[in-house]
Amino acid sequence: MLQMLYICELMSNLCVHIKSFGCQMNKLDTALVSSALQDEGFILTESVKEADVVLINTCSVREHAEQRVLSHLGHLKHIKESRPELVVGVIGCMAQRLGETLLEHEAVNFVCGPAEIPQIKQLIRKALKEKKKSLAVTEKIRQKAPEEQNQALEEFESAYGIEDESIPAQAFVRVMRGCNNFCSYCVVPYVRGPEISRLPEAIIEQIKKLADHGVKQITLLGQTVNSYKYKQGEKTWSLADLLDAAGDIEGVEWLRFVTSYPSEEFFDEIMQVMARSPKVCKYLHMPAQSGSDRILHAMNRNYSAARYLELLDRARAIVPDIAIAGDFIVGFPGETEEDFQATVDLVKKARYKNAFIFKYSPRPGTTADKRQEDTVPAEVKQKRIMQLLAVQEQISKELSRAFLGKEVTVLIEGLSKKPHLNSTDSEKNPQLVARTETDYIVVFNGPTLLAGKFAQVKITRTSPLTLFGELA
Ligand code: SAH
Ligand code: SF4
Ligand code: F3S
Repeated sequence: MLQMLYICELMSNLCVHIKSFGCQMNKLDTALVSSALQDEGFILTESVKEADVVLINTCSVREHAEQRVLSHLGHLKHIKESRPELVVGVIGCMAQRLGETLLEHEAVNFVCGPAEIPQIKQLIRKALKEKKKSLAVTEKIRQKAPEEQNQALEEFESAYGIEDESIPAQAFVRVMRGCNNFCSYCVVPYVRGPEISRLPEAIIEQIKKLADHGVKQITLLGQTVNSYKYKQGEKTWSLADLLDAAGDIEGVEWLRFVTSYPSEEFFDEIMQVMARSPKVCKYLHMPAQSGSDRILHAMNRNYSAARYLELLDRARAIVPDIAIAGDFIVGFPGETEEDFQATVDLVKKARYKNAFIFKYSPRPGTTADKRQEDTVPAEVKQKRIMQLLAVQEQISKELSRAFLGKEVTVLIEGLSKKPHLNSTDSEKNPQLVARTETDYIVVFNGPTLLAGKFAQVKITRTSPLTLFGELA
């Protein structure tokens, strides 16, 4: 009891600042940690200056992501020169990848990998009490996790699965952890561990809880979310079953899922739920990575360009107004001009709503990095990314233009940060940002209190990635 009191006193009014550098999975971890710490009496702060504890949630997917973190740590080291008592914790994928090396950084008090996140409160407590640095990363991460670790992660996840405070009425729910795909360029399987699908009841329970709190849009998360699979006696749950069950929950209005892997298994069932259920958003994010079969093979992606395009055709046949997004890597080792042209071809045929295009970044420990030199020169990667972006921009422009004059239903996220519109009464009707079911960004003027609500917007102008309009 005495010890409890001491901890509460120690924790009371302490401010914590958390910064996320990664993907949706990483942002979800940030949300979980934030609410766990708030429950512990911490106050969240936007300002590093006010903070007693700074947490950095990191990403290792490309070198650039890690460099941003290192430069941020440099900045924190500078701050700690005048405030040595400031506690800095590095969490997330880079923490798992670099462990001890990161701990040696002068600014860092502790390092905590994604699977060790349930220890976060103890790690902070320890750092506040004593000067000693601590390391919490998963050894032998590719081995099946011990039951206690899974249990701890499961408990942490379900206890703190709350609304994402940055976007009202929206939340993310993880349906799977880890990845077993081992795409040759990718670090994720080595930092997030083996693929494991969560218990369907736990997921459904969490969605119910979120809906009771007023959440209207739920995004189901997994590195290959469409391969969600959970055997329960005779029944095997797929993502399609989860979407069906989640759609029955009162209060849930829109359901999304990311990211899908181009695989046959469950594909038609998932598309059929999308076609049938008004709650499942007609949006599919399914990375192709390349349009060259030779490169796809070297990437250890288990499909050909033709099979991939066939899946898109099937998706469009089952859900005619579906919007599709893709990811690509240009400059993979050995990518010739011919390979790259095959990617350009695929992009032209796929007619994505938008595509995320990255330059290949060698990741230590991955098979691509071990086996192949990063042969494509930086200028060539740059030229290819620009060319592919231009091809996609033209397609996005054409697809957006089709919305002109139409009315769309949107879920409003809040104030738009970029100044796009002129508002005559910007005080009362500032510029808001929202999304359609098909994930189009819509910008219009309206009262701030609409954040978290659905509205009808008439589209009056379009750009490749944004629709502009007026409240209908
Ligand atoms: N699990 C998801 C994506 C995870 S990473 C999937 O498989 O679709 C997000 C994107 O980053 C990938 O789709 C890929 O396009 C890109 N990416 C991953 N590793 C990369 C690397 N080493 N260099 C450049 N881009 C990479
Ligand atoms: Fe990485 Fe491939 Fe797994 Fe996606 S599916 S996380 S790209 S290994
Ligand atoms: Fe996400 Fe980056 Fe980790 S993409 S899973 S935060 S390596």
